[in-house]
Amino acid sequence: MNEAAGQKGSDVKRIGLVTGGGDCPGLNAVIRAIVLGALNRGWEVFGIERGFEGLLYHDRVYPMNRHHVKGIIHTGGTILGTTNRGNPFSLRVVEDGVSRQVDVSHRVVEEFHRLGLEALVVIGGDGTLRIASSLAAMGIPIIGVPKTIDNDLSSTDFTFGFDTCLNTVMDAVDKLRTTAESHRRIIVVECMGRHAGWITAFSGMAVAADAIMVPEKETLIDDVCELLKARRTSGKKYGIVMVSEGATIKFRDESGNIKTLDVSQSGRKDDFGHIQLGGIGKQVAELIKYKTGIETREVVLGHLQRGGSPSAYDRVLGTRLGVHAGRLALKKDFGKMVALRGMNIVAVPLAEAVGQMRTLPLEFLDEAGEFLR
Ligand code: F6P
Repeated sequence: MNEAAGQKGSDVKRIGLVTGGGDCPGLNAVIRAIVLGALNRGWEVFGIERGFEGLLYHDRVYPMNRHHVKGIIHTGGTILGTTNRGNPFSLRVVEDGVSRQVDVSHRVVEEFHRLGLEALVVIGGDGTLRIASSLAAMGIPIIGVPKTIDNDLSSTDFTFGFDTCLNTVMDAVDKLRTTAESHRRIIVVECMGRHAGWITAFSGMAVAADAIMVPEKETLIDDVCELLKARRTSGKKYGIVMVSEGATIKFRDESGNIKTLDVSQSGRKDDFGHIQLGGIGKQVAELIKYKTGIETREVVLGHLQRGGSPSAYDRVLGTRLGVHAGRLALKKDFGKMVALRGMNIVAVPLAEAVGQMRTLPLEFLDEAGEFLR
């Protein structure tokens, strides 16, 4: 628990609110709940635009009122804007044409106090909450709210954004299925999710995909090709193959050597240290075409998966998390993250919550098809 976490006493009067990392459907439901909960208690809420770095710019911090959160529960994205650049512990700056990284975390802490803020509610994924945890250790009274379409945060059963994302993927594959069937093709669908296979496995189950490839379990593409050929022989003339952007996939080359596919074509990292993934779907499609002789296409769903109006589930989860974040502020119970456990929203220590990534239990792969083959 950080120093600020122990402070009880009079009510908080002024809180800051920030969203960081990739956007996801449901963020605005959380923002709405926090702002309304706070205003109803007579607190002031300051919106901080586009991540922690926003605190350093006067034109990116503004007092929020009811008007700001009117009619936003059904909208995707975040009204505060976001970024997965802007890590205050290693902020990228360009001086004289040269890019370098500087630590401006102390300035963020100073600005927080200068603005008279008494709590900072941080809505973010793993990278953002990790930074929040470090800022908490520097004395900022933080309350974390977990978000990500990837559903890969430990300490919470589900993250908002995940359900909407699954529905987006499902709708896309339902559309791809009709063209795949008409042309008797195989379509490889590359899904987001970083190093966790939640999106691929759950949407794969929802569309009854022929094959699902995730990071958590190695797939030998030759086995998938045998399965696709067998299905064709037994009458199914098209195929849907779901692949995680970070999937662990091997293949046998012409000399019989086992090789691994590359998950990052760009090799770049973002400011949170995450490697930029993407491009595996194309490699999978090419191999399937080569090894089966079946016409194969790939579709990268990309940022479509982060967009759109949140599902009812995500609006409800976002609202509940926002309400409980407000309750923690009321109790001055800082250094915590709100989390879903079963049906309940609980508070878990922030430092624990950002400790490790939650990967997909392999049981889901069995349920998603292996048991049914
Ligand atoms: O964490 C959410 C996520 O959408 C990942 O699934 C994906 O790898 C990444 O963000 C993409 O980030 P960017 O918006 O920087 O391309």
